[in-house]
Amino acid sequence: MECCLSTISRHVSIREYTSESIPEEHVKKIIEASRRAPSAWGLQPYTIIIVRDPRLKKDIAEAVGGQEHVAKAPLLLVYAIDYAKLVELAKKIGVSVSDPGLGHLIIGLVDVGIASAWASIVAEELGYGITFIALYSNPCRIAKILGLPKYVLPVVALTIGKPARRPGLQPRQPVEALVDYEKYSNVVDKANAMLGDRELMAKYRRVIELTLKPNTYYDLVGEEMYKCIREYFNVKV
Ligand SMILES: Cc1cc2nc3c(=O)[nH]c(=O)nc-3n(C[C@H](O)[C@H](O)[C@H](O)COP(=O)(O)O)c2cc1C
Repeated sequence: MECCLSTISRHVSIREYTSESIPEEHVKKIIEASRRAPSAWGLQPYTIIIVRDPRLKKDIAEAVGGQEHVAKAPLLLVYAIDYAKLVELAKKIGVSVSDPGLGHLIIGLVDVGIASAWASIVAEELGYGITFIALYSNPCRIAKILGLPKYVLPVVALTIGKPARRPGLQPRQPVEALVDYEKYSNVVDKANAMLGDRELMAKYRRVIELTLKPNTYYDLVGEEMYKCIREYFNVKV
């Protein structure tokens, strides 16, 4: 118990790594954390792709907006929602199924989030640094790089390696803004709690501009996802 909380409390995203490679036994432990993670119905509609090939890492780095730390990380774990293998399994056991839809996607997203988070904690427990990488800004391009079939959609990746530089802890919302008891309190108190936190606001002024104003990155993500899930999932949204 103490192990995880102290590791989590020290968490900071690491974007600079030494060239030290990660032994296979550690990769197995990190993957095992995802494999044992809870999943809706225990279905595990995802595949984890272990990427070490410098060429592939470079292509993925470019596809996510030229994030050099993706190319330079010794190890990249790509988490993709995967209903292809389950549809194939259904065929083999003689069950006729329809195209996975929006519900399948949403449940897959939650499952991928949990599985990747469990892996990230074990990686940090083992002394590695990690950063989550958003693949949802360009999912179809990444799907093509990795040769993903229909019904498989990349969501996030984890870069993993020995930290070369450890930045300071990033702020988090105060508990009053994040937690309510029994029922929702109110948005004004929550906003005031955040406003009163100088460190948080130093970050949030910029982040809110970048995420909540019209035509920002989040809208782009929406459009790309929209296009890609039509192509990969036949989902009409
Ligand atoms: C779903 C998700 C996507 C993220 N995508 C990226 C990314 O593409 N590139 C990156 O450098 N960091 C990415 N991050 C890391 C966040 O920027 C980071 O967690 C946040 O700023 C808080 O900093 P900390 O992790 O150091 O505490 C992502 C984190 C999450 C959870």
